Amino acid sequence: MKRRLNFILNKNEVETSQHPGMSLLDYLRQEANLTGTKEGCKEGDCGTCTVLIGELIKDKLQYKSVNSCLLPIGDVNQKHIVTIEGLNREELTPIQTEMVDEGGTQCGFCTPGFVVSLSGYYLINDDYNTEDAIDSMNGNICRCTGYAGIKRTANKITQRLKILAKNNHSKIELLVGEKILPEYFLDVKEKLNSLILQKKSNITDDNLDFSNHFTISGGTDLMVQKWEDILKSDVSLISDKNVISGIKEENSKIIIGGATTASEIEDSPIMAKYFPEIKEYLSLFGSLPIKNTATVAGNIVNASPIADMTSIFLALNSTLTLRNSNSSREILLKDFYKGYKTLDKKENELLTLISFNIPKENSFFNYEKVSKRKYLDIASVNSSLFIDVDEDFINEVNISAGGVAPIPLYLKETGKFLSSKKISSAIIEEASEILQDEISPISDARGTAEYKRLLLRQLFYAHFIKLFPKLIVIEELV
Ligand SMILES: Cc1cc2nc3c(=O)[nH]c(=O)nc-3n(C[C@H](O)[C@H](O)[C@H](O)COP(=O)(O)OP(=O)(O)OC[C@H]3O[C@@H](n4cnc5c(N)ncnc54)[C@H](O)[C@@H]3O)c2cc1C
Ligand code: FES
Ligand code: FES
Repeated sequence: MKRRLNFILNKNEVETSQHPGMSLLDYLRQEANLTGTKEGCKEGDCGTCTVLIGELIKDKLQYKSVNSCLLPIGDVNQKHIVTIEGLNREELTPIQTEMVDEGGTQCGFCTPGFVVSLSGYYLINDDYNTEDAIDSMNGNICRCTGYAGIKRTANKITQRLKILAKNNHSKIELLVGEKILPEYFLDVKEKLNSLILQKKSNITDDNLDFSNHFTISGGTDLMVQKWEDILKSDVSLISDKNVISGIKEENSKIIIGGATTASEIEDSPIMAKYFPEIKEYLSLFGSLPIKNTATVAGNIVNASPIADMTSIFLALNSTLTLRNSNSSREILLKDFYKGYKTLDKKENELLTLISFNIPKENSFFNYEKVSKRKYLDIASVNSSLFIDVDEDFINEVNISAGGVAPIPLYLKETGKFLSSKKISSAIIEEASEILQDEISPISDARGTAEYKRLLLRQLFYAHFIKLFPKLIVIEELV
């Protein structure tokens, strides 16, 4: 399927009929001749390809940083793309000047990515602090500088802008005034509005029957694994389909749209209300640009045995809503996986919603992940636990385990054993033996089978030690 795409690239409106599955990075470098955006890993790991993408949402222009190497160009329709060229002015911007003065750049290959991420931080957020400014560059890697100069740059600019931001009503006006952004940013909202009005018919596509082609959501799995095949196939973009993003509470349930990103889950006040540690959990999931595009449906349907969002939603005993053009059905997530990458899902079905019961007063949740590196790494083993108790007795318990089977695993037998039991070290130890019979880890780059068994046991203990410190005697578990 080819179609016309219209978007604003820096300050110019552009139109292209390139394959919608072409990566934005390839388009920028090969078609638009904007080579300031660099190609490093092409797998979402290095951040040299970082750009900003701006979109009108409820009449508000909202930006986020993304890895252009993984973004299908079809997803930029009617949006604003900002590359390093779109931030440049005749003289260096204050961020670029500080990067030079503070020794934040040497060979310079990574520098455009860092400058785009940091400029994006000031454009995206309302309040500034150094820690968050530095964190906004967590998807950018530099092989030369050792990061100290880059951090000093973030600190200096943040200290300067933080004071000014308090007295200024329009963020874009402030950033233009401070020469962080060029003047054309003042007109982008109006330009996008008129683009949307003119080209409305270009993006309407309600046809859900798209078997025999790739369905791309955030692209953070597909564009890494299958980018060459994608270019030879028809593609459907989830952003064109009726799959919503967002999180709401309704009739004692929390309902999450399939297109909701990891960042939206991390920043959701609803999730924070019931899962106060959600930010901490999601801090273990990829970099900011990855989280800005990775969707919950992509995480579940990709069926990786170590998928992190899947681990959380398995333990919440979530229900999936699957829909095709004619019908819709519901299935429990724990029944969705039939074998390695084999799902109870027809080819033309879309995962549109994920829902689960709102936790009650006596319910507790915990998520644990162990990887070779604490941050920005995939799990060796992960596990989540949801538990509902009456006094010290277990009413209901759901436990997930990742990295220990060909599928994201729901530990049915362990849960069954624990049901109605009084929480104690002895019971938890006994349950951990049942758990060992439910798993079948293999040795691979993330550890030996024995190591993964041990890890899962420790994570299982960790759930109870964290949630019920008064009932568990650690010494009795080791
Ligand atoms: C650098 C990097 C770091 C990562 N870190 C982590 C991590 O820490 N933890 C983790 O769990 N994962 C991680 N991932 C993997 C990936 O980001 C996640 O699995 C992500 O949630 C996939 O979502 P997506 O929207 O990008 O999926 P896509 O790549 O768009 O799609 C994945 C699969 O899901 C299907 N699909 C997508 N949406 C739907 C839908 N609504 N209905 C039906 N089918 C659909 C697609 O057809 C495809 O088969 C990482 C990936 C990268 C590149
Ligand atoms: S090229 Fe490395 S993240 Fe895109
Ligand atoms: S300056 Fe060389 S990679 Fe960062």
